[in-house]
Amino acid sequence: MHWHKALLTVALASSALAGSATQIWNFTTYVDIENSILRPNGQLLFTTLTGPELYVIDPSAVSPKAEIVTSMAGATALTGLAAIEHDKFAVIGGVRGSYNYTNETIYTVDFSSPSGTIIETAITLPDAIMLNGMVALPSNPHVLLVADSRVGCLWRVDLDTSTVTKAVEDNVMLAPANATVPIGVDGLKVAGGYAYFTNVAKQLFARVPIADDGSAAIGAVEVLDYLDDDIDDFAVDGTYAYAAQHPNLVSKFNLETGDLVSVLVNDDTMAGGPTSVTLKGDGISGYFTTMGNMTTGTSGQIFEFELGS
Ligand SMILES: *[C@@H]1O[C@H](CO)[C@@H](O)[C@H](O)[C@H]1NC(C)=O
Ligand SMILES: *[C@@H]1O[C@H](CO)[C@@H](O)[C@H](O)[C@H]1NC(C)=O
Ligand SMILES: *[C@@H]1O[C@H](CO)[C@@H](O)[C@H](O)[C@H]1NC(C)=O
Ligand SMILES: *[C@@H]1O[C@H](CO)[C@@H](O)[C@H](O)[C@H]1NC(C)=O
Ligand SMILES: *[C@@H]1O[C@H](CO)[C@@H](O)[C@H](O)[C@H]1NC(C)=O
Repeated sequence: MHWHKALLTVALASSALAGSATQIWNFTTYVDIENSILRPNGQLLFTTLTGPELYVIDPSAVSPKAEIVTSMAGATALTGLAAIEHDKFAVIGGVRGSYNYTNETIYTVDFSSPSGTIIETAITLPDAIMLNGMVALPSNPHVLLVADSRVGCLWRVDLDTSTVTKAVEDNVMLAPANATVPIGVDGLKVAGGYAYFTNVAKQLFARVPIADDGSAAIGAVEVLDYLDDDIDDFAVDGTYAYAAQHPNLVSKFNLETGDLVSVLVNDDTMAGGPTSVTLKGDGISGYFTTMGNMTTGTSGQIFEFELGS
């Protein structure tokens, strides 16, 4: 029977695809893609550690192609991204050194105006060394928490008052003093009253309860999981974290227990480790980015993957 055969084909196709992902884009030279976020129109914005350009790609295009939105004045690398209003984003940029940055700055990019994209420099953080993951507070998206991988803290940045304070500083956010890759707190998201974060050098996933206004921790840092390999950035849906885990995985963790639920992607066509995950919000699929490999000259990629059941 025809429909029966169709069902069988679907079942075979999905089992054959388990663990793999579909590449939708890569550059042709070495580019280290760092972070990504979805626009309301379904386009994916992304940053790279190898240049000051903010990129956008339309995954629904027949042949998706990354395009430059803007190049951030005074920066050589961009990292975290957060949505601060409808179709308006905060973007971190700085001048990249050897595991440290100068002139760490938060820019805003507003796509909502009919007269064109508006780029502004919001604030520079003089005491920041390596700004990485960034979230907007659910209670007030004009207030950002920003992970600093070298200071080992979360900065609280209020875009309305242009003020910066240290909200949380903890040893769990620092890299070990002898780390060869001295990157501590990296990925950062807020869900259910907690700030969730990863520490790259310590290979852990942790959380800390945070005041509604993001001003301080209101409890102790709790390590949820020590990992076999480090997680860079991750996405959350309220129940789970979907994590870009080295060397080539997208892993799903329970936010309450920190337990690994499943490995959604285990794909050796990644030319370098995965760096960020963005959910489409349809409960079905998402995107992840990769860092490429400077030695081999392979480039950062963007993949689409399925969340599974
Ligand atoms: C720092 O960034 C600002 C933009 O926010 C830029 O105008 C300035 O030239 C930068 N300074 C350095 C030293 O790169
Ligand atoms: C940044 O790195 C350079 C070279 O590795 C070093 O001289 C400098 O002290 C570092 N600055 C900070 C703030 O860590
Ligand atoms: C750093 O120090 C710890 C504790 O002494 C040790 O277990 C670890 O192997 C060291 N790591 C490196 C990269 O030297
Ligand atoms: C990059 O590729 C080289 C050569 O294949 C390999 O030795 C190295 O481990 C790779 N680097 C990373 C970060 O994967
Ligand atoms: C881009 O992807 C294509 C197809 O997967 C691959 O053949 C090529 O080597 C990649 N290029 C770079 C620079 O990573």
